[in-house]
Amino acid sequence: MFERSRKGEHALLVQPHAGGPPDEAELEEFAELARSAGATVATLVTARIDRPNPATLLGSGKLDEVKAAADASGADLVLVNHPLSPGQERNLEKVLERRVVDRTGLILDIFAQRARSHEGKLQVELAQLKHMATRLVRGWTHLERQRGGSIGLRGPGETQLETDRRLLQKRVDMLQKRLEKVEVQRTQMRRARVRSELPRVALVGYTNAGKSTLFNALTGAGAYAADQLFATLDPTVRRIALASGPVVLADTVGFVRDLPHELVAAFRSTLSEAREADLLLHVIDAADPLRDERIRQVDAVLAEIGAGDLPQLLVFNKIDRIEGAQARRDAPDPETAPAPALPGETLAIGRERVWISARDGLGLDLLEGALAARLAQRRIVAELELPPSAGRLRARLHALDAVRGESHDEHGWRIRVDLSEADAARLAAQEDAGMLRELLPAVEAEYSR
Ligand code: GTP
Repeated sequence: MFERSRKGEHALLVQPHAGGPPDEAELEEFAELARSAGATVATLVTARIDRPNPATLLGSGKLDEVKAAADASGADLVLVNHPLSPGQERNLEKVLERRVVDRTGLILDIFAQRARSHEGKLQVELAQLKHMATRLVRGWTHLERQRGGSIGLRGPGETQLETDRRLLQKRVDMLQKRLEKVEVQRTQMRRARVRSELPRVALVGYTNAGKSTLFNALTGAGAYAADQLFATLDPTVRRIALASGPVVLADTVGFVRDLPHELVAAFRSTLSEAREADLLLHVIDAADPLRDERIRQVDAVLAEIGAGDLPQLLVFNKIDRIEGAQARRDAPDPETAPAPALPGETLAIGRERVWISARDGLGLDLLEGALAARLAQRRIVAELELPPSAGRLRARLHALDAVRGESHDEHGWRIRVDLSEADAARLAAQEDAGMLRELLPAVEAEYSR
């Protein structure tokens, strides 16, 4: 009911731009978005906008051109790579005699087709309903009439509209309630995961950078990877074994420039996997001519969702597309790294870089090594209560120089420890692992990076 562009529709693309020639990369991304929504690109019109017309965004000369191009190319849908107010959208539809969808509507449509989890679907529908609600004022009558408007087939009258609006609001309320419940469940699950104390690593990056492909390569799982934008809408979470011990790896939705703000809000919980990670693998299409800009755009979104200060490993993917490039690992060099230009701008603070091809499996060993090394730097600071029978474990903790203080009574020892996670993992492997696993979550374990 709410899916606005359907498979196989021919779309005319309108790319507004300011002074200077239109940005080629932006055009390519826009066409890619349209294709991701399932439309075929009938033709493209660029429109230089010096002073936006408040009623239609485009000036009347440009509108004539768009109408003629749409008629000539048989387009049944017009996509505008710009946010449109509900009024502008309606006015454009009237003049162009076709459905008009703006950038937000287009991205929402893709999200709607891609959402897989229960929560993802609820969130998309909610965002769609809200986007639609603003457009329901006065309804779709202008389009209904064009379809002939014969008696009995007239557009919805005011009463119908009111009913629609009331139903819409009811559905919004219901979805919101359900989402709240899902969120509570999610928080509880998250707490359970924190207690399991596995380090969490999240794959983040610009859409199409190759996150899902890398996720699959690292986990051997068949998460969905397709040459479509936003192939991943819901984070997929798997446990993987590294040399340093097991970690939880999460794939996340791809970022895109100018992701409409209302969508950032709607997808906050999808992105929370990133916010709560111990380490971010920032995946970059190394062959993308705009890669530095993409890195900055992803950093900006990360900062927006409160993940700007998390440690990152930069993963330059797709080296198979670069002549002569080889898999390698560049250690960060704090000496030569420039000072951060902006607060929280991690690009500048000497991030470690690994060059790989997720598709061809090149450099995955280097990446795993870098990951393990980074995670080994994490420390566990905790207070352990050891029963009298745990003498061996206590001796090993002392041998590792991990004991910061201890007391003893008839129940056993109370020991304050500070040890690297790698040491803890090794201990868990040596000792009665079950006991250690029981002990660690039983105390307030606190991580410091
Ligand atoms: P979103 O879900 O949109 O965020 O995309 P993603 O970052 O998860 O990208 P995905 O893994 O779906 O890959 C996008 C496209 O890039 C697919 O066509 C992959 O086959 C391709 N790809 C991924 N890794 C590589 C690589 O190492 N080399 C090459 N040549 N292509 C790759």
